Amino acid sequence: MDRKVIIAGNWKMNKNACEGVALVEDLKKIFADCSCSCEADVVVCPPFTTIGAVVEAAKNSNIKVGAQNIHWADNGAFTGEISGDMLKTAGVEYVIIGHSERRQYFGETDATVNARLKAALKYDLIPIVCVGELLDERESGKTEAVLSTQIRGGFDGISGAEMEKIVVAYEPVWAIGTGKTATPEIAEAAHAHIRKELAAMFGTEVAEKVRIQYGGSMKAANARELVAQKDIDGGLIGGAALKADEFAKLICEALGK
Ligand code: PGA
Repeated sequence: MDRKVIIAGNWKMNKNACEGVALVEDLKKIFADCSCSCEADVVVCPPFTTIGAVVEAAKNSNIKVGAQNIHWADNGAFTGEISGDMLKTAGVEYVIIGHSERRQYFGETDATVNARLKAALKYDLIPIVCVGELLDERESGKTEAVLSTQIRGGFDGISGAEMEKIVVAYEPVWAIGTGKTATPEIAEAAHAHIRKELAAMFGTEVAEKVRIQYGGSMKAANARELVAQKDIDGGLIGGAALKADEFAKLICEALGK
């Protein structure tokens, strides 16, 4: 099964509009001399207030723009929230849902992930749904059970046709921002489990089409061997997405170039 590699930069709460535009301009300069960015789906996910400027800067390039969250309601009295309609109108094409930092600090649950996912699909945004275990869950042998619960709850009520469009990001929480990457073997085992769970829910044909990114201290130096694994189809990148040269190099490495 040929799944197109997808590399997404999650800028988290970094880069104001000026800095975000500068990063995209630098990426465009590097991509002009390198075809790797055409062979993968390349996405950058800036903070909400940076989105407008980045969408403008990314026009006529192969850089797509994603958001880092979405509210489940169409509009209404939800102070501080952003809807799918607002994202779509701003030129956003992807949206990260259920990142572990949102689960950890902002009360995100599998039920709210599911509600946000349905809103993203309604507005024709491509969801990047994050799953992953905590360190103590891994150490107590609960990784597969945790992933299964997150997948069953997160993707409840989704059709097979919808699932094919969704990107899953496996991000072991102990590897995020810690410099501790999962080994390719550990990551591949988790990805294979996720695909098995998706096959149980949606059938093998759908599961084989779903792209599963790895996230957690992925950088240019380890992207090649991670993405070379059978069930690893790209990366969701935090720290290494904040510098143009590192992010561009990571894309080429992930493609094995
Ligand atoms: P990191 O973050 O690459 O800085 O570990 C990944 C993520 O949280 O998406």
